[in-house]
Amino acid sequence: MSPMTRRQLLALGAVGAGSVAVGGTGLWWTSRDKETLGGGRLVQPEVLASRDGVLDLALEAAPTRVRIGAREANVHAFNGSLPGPTLRVRGGDTVRVAMTNSLDTPTNIHVHGLHVSPEDNGDNPFVTVESGESFDYEYVLPQDHPPGTYWYHPHNHGHVADQVAAGLYGAIVVEDPDPVPVARERVLIVSDIALDDSGNLAEVTAPQRMLGREGETVLVNGQLRPGASAAPGERELWRVVNACPSRYLRLSLDGQGVRLLRRDVGRLPEPVDVTELILAPGNRVELLVDTREGTSTLRTISVERGNMDGMMGGARSGDGPDNDEPIDLLVLEVAGDPAEEVRSVPAGPTLRDLRDEPVEARRTIDFAMGGMRGGMRGPGQMMSFTIDGREFDAERTDQRVRVDTVEEWTLTNSSPMDHPMHLHVWPMQVVVDGGREISGPRWQDVVNIPAFGEVTVRVAFDDFGGRTVYHCHILDHEDLGMMGTLEAR
Ligand code: C2O
Ligand code: CU
Ligand code: CU
Repeated sequence: MSPMTRRQLLALGAVGAGSVAVGGTGLWWTSRDKETLGGGRLVQPEVLASRDGVLDLALEAAPTRVRIGAREANVHAFNGSLPGPTLRVRGGDTVRVAMTNSLDTPTNIHVHGLHVSPEDNGDNPFVTVESGESFDYEYVLPQDHPPGTYWYHPHNHGHVADQVAAGLYGAIVVEDPDPVPVARERVLIVSDIALDDSGNLAEVTAPQRMLGREGETVLVNGQLRPGASAAPGERELWRVVNACPSRYLRLSLDGQGVRLLRRDVGRLPEPVDVTELILAPGNRVELLVDTREGTSTLRTISVERGNMDGMMGGARSGDGPDNDEPIDLLVLEVAGDPAEEVRSVPAGPTLRDLRDEPVEARRTIDFAMGGMRGGMRGPGQMMSFTIDGREFDAERTDQRVRVDTVEEWTLTNSSPMDHPMHLHVWPMQVVVDGGREISGPRWQDVVNIPAFGEVTVRVAFDDFGGRTVYHCHILDHEDLGMMGTLEAR
């Protein structure tokens, strides 16, 4: 299959400019085992859907024993399954989550991408639910909440990468009142995990944290290389979530007709043919797959996202025998009698374009990696991960914005690694990326800032006041301090 052009990659907004790919794609089973592992039927996570405008649910984060391929693994999961349940809601709904922490570390929940209040028991990233305790969240979605694919995961600073890597994540679907007709849809949560020989979560080293850990086993819905089937001539909607703590995905599905319908937030006016898609950690895409007879494999290959050359004496991830080896994620078998012709795709709504609106303030926000913290030298030494020269401090307010104004932010990266920047509550419209003006409104909630590069976004601070955060979605970087606070008033 032909690789995507640079221009197409830029249009997806998540391509890096680093020189060496980070992270291993090594497999934790031996090649002899490989044929006998994986290959089960793709399972959809349990669905919890709202009724009459309300979704009430309990979510328990707990150690859980699951089967991954032919092995038993000790992971952490919501409600005993990997991933947790899929929440299906609509604009205007109230979602109440009774959250229980049965882990031995503090945790909490964040509803990634949802446009809801960050205050009190809303999407408040400053909440701590201690081990053994419970917390009741309530989220009220605006009537006109953008439809799409979102997700939830823990967000307690210092524990986020460990807990997401351990298996704590689930999908959220905000229903489209005007859906594209499809034969079926599938939620595909891609995650990675590192297990030791006894099936326990592997230790993470200091260099792995600094690079951003990449678990060598890549899963779809907690499964190893599952299979799915369809008839030729069908149209499916795939909701793909990159739930990996640090791994960028570069996805391809040979032999099928694949069109991009939606990235994080906001439908494209017309679906666009794609051959490869790059998802930074936290990004989602919705794909229309028009099936063609044959067997196709959804694959990912590693993405160059920079390194620490010249910073850590040239430290790299070191594991992973061959970074360019593709990883098979899912096998799609298309066979049988061709389906009836599918209906055409209705045009998407016109998206808001903040370039037509007055800008109240402009800011530049810089992501950087610095010298060793505390000047210590040793095996556990860490460099600092900062925004505007500072590590995260929950007590300090870094940006103050006014509700109902539009701002333009230039996000710069003065480090040799890419940093995918994420802002809670309010989506970002990317206006300049890689020195190019973006044509048409492109809305995302995770925007990659390439190594030594910059990107310009506009944000409409609508609807909600309160304090929240923005951060690098390489979750190890976030835990190491690459996060800032914002207050809207
Ligand atoms: Cu998906 Cu602040 O995170
Ligand atoms: Cu988020
Ligand atoms: Cu980062």
